[in-house]
Amino acid sequence: MPQSDVFGKAYHNATKHSYLSVQVEPNYVDASTQPSAFKVYPKFYRRVKLNLNNPIHSFIWLTSAVTFEKVYNSDSYKLRVNPSAGALYPTEIYVQIRGMSEIVDGIYHLEVENNCLTLIYELIDDGLESYIIPGKSINGFIFLVSSVYYRSSWKYKQRSLRYCLLDSGHHLGAVAASAYLHERNIQLIFDFDKLTLNTDLGFENKEFITGCAISGELQEKQVRKLRLKVPFVCGTDYFEANQFIEDSYQATAVQPSRQQKLKQPKFNFEQDKFYQTIWNRRSIRCFRKELISQEHYLYVLQLLQQPIPTKQYEEIELYSVVHRVEGMISGLYKGVNLIKTGNFCEQTGYLCVNQALARDCAVVFFFVSEYTSYQTAMQLAGFLGQRIYLVSNYIGIQCSGIGAFYDDETQQFLQTTKDVLYAMAIGI
Ligand SMILES: Cc1cc2nc3c(=O)[nH]c(=O)nc-3n(C[C@H](O)[C@H](O)[C@H](O)COP(=O)(O)O)c2cc1C
Repeated sequence: MPQSDVFGKAYHNATKHSYLSVQVEPNYVDASTQPSAFKVYPKFYRRVKLNLNNPIHSFIWLTSAVTFEKVYNSDSYKLRVNPSAGALYPTEIYVQIRGMSEIVDGIYHLEVENNCLTLIYELIDDGLESYIIPGKSINGFIFLVSSVYYRSSWKYKQRSLRYCLLDSGHHLGAVAASAYLHERNIQLIFDFDKLTLNTDLGFENKEFITGCAISGELQEKQVRKLRLKVPFVCGTDYFEANQFIEDSYQATAVQPSRQQKLKQPKFNFEQDKFYQTIWNRRSIRCFRKELISQEHYLYVLQLLQQPIPTKQYEEIELYSVVHRVEGMISGLYKGVNLIKTGNFCEQTGYLCVNQALARDCAVVFFFVSEYTSYQTAMQLAGFLGQRIYLVSNYIGIQCSGIGAFYDDETQQFLQTTKDVLYAMAIGI
């Protein structure tokens, strides 16, 4: 496919799952060949060890912390505050810090495995602002989320760009949750000069920026582009290029998003309980087929409808397939409107590539969109996904993201021609 023809819709269409495609190309991989999931800059860079008692450190740490270690078939997996498709964790976090008295102004890589910030670039009169919000300077934080795509394409091949973008949205959601907990403002930015930044941060073709979150005080001030290029460091121990993914990323990186007025969500979480929820968030592996209360279901819906703090936007439509909610008619709902009555447990189980999770849960959500920017739409779906995880876990309900579904059949079931971006199951 020529590069210029690979746009969001074309990429999405080319990576649809169907009953047949999953039979023909199951995602079997030899686990011993998994590329490394942690990026580490060379030893000579200065590092700041993170300390949870320092509120700035804790703000950054909680965006990405390892919260659980699991051994499976003698391999150890480090699970984190952010979920990830297949626990492959393609996303990395870079944070520019400016104007904080106790920390050098610079761009840092968050070294998740060792809980430290690696100073990869010291600021003088330059910085990330010129790529992201030209004409302004931020006293505070600029978080960049990138994807080391081979960690995901190793297993998920062409479809992995979807997962990199959804994971990036989840990671932005984790940044937003930490900002809420630390009483810091936040704004997501999706339309900026990602391609020049990839070059200047030395990512070559192996890593790419997907999204950004800023937190702090904006000032009118010109900031120069980075005066030096950051040297290339590979995010995996070995690498195999996938030209289709690289082309699809490049083409979708320059699609402008829709615009909206910036609105902040309002949440009323109790601090301590929310802190525990962030640390203990997990994906459920098996539901017990129990009912959830209508009050809990409506609470999740209500918080999902809270604004996303961004000016760059895509409309995400929400469908719910209600299986087990006390006092509610089972069936397919668009928003709060019932559009098809019935017990669709078996059907959603089948549509989500025969996963019992989607059969045994209380509700399956589907996010659907007709977007102008594919990257923005997918990240917003992931961002809402992170909100569903946290809100559900906060009220004692379990949850899992579901990135695998038969695309065309799911569209037919939902009676929509728009793209299905993501599914989530909640229940007990
Ligand atoms: C984008 C995305 C897609 C996912 N898709 C599936 C899926 O199809 N089936 C499943 O069982 N889990 C799925 N998960 C859950 C991951 O397997 C889980 O996040 C990962 O194993 C890490 O575990 P944790 O969430 O408990 O930290 C998905 C997660 C994400 C973020």
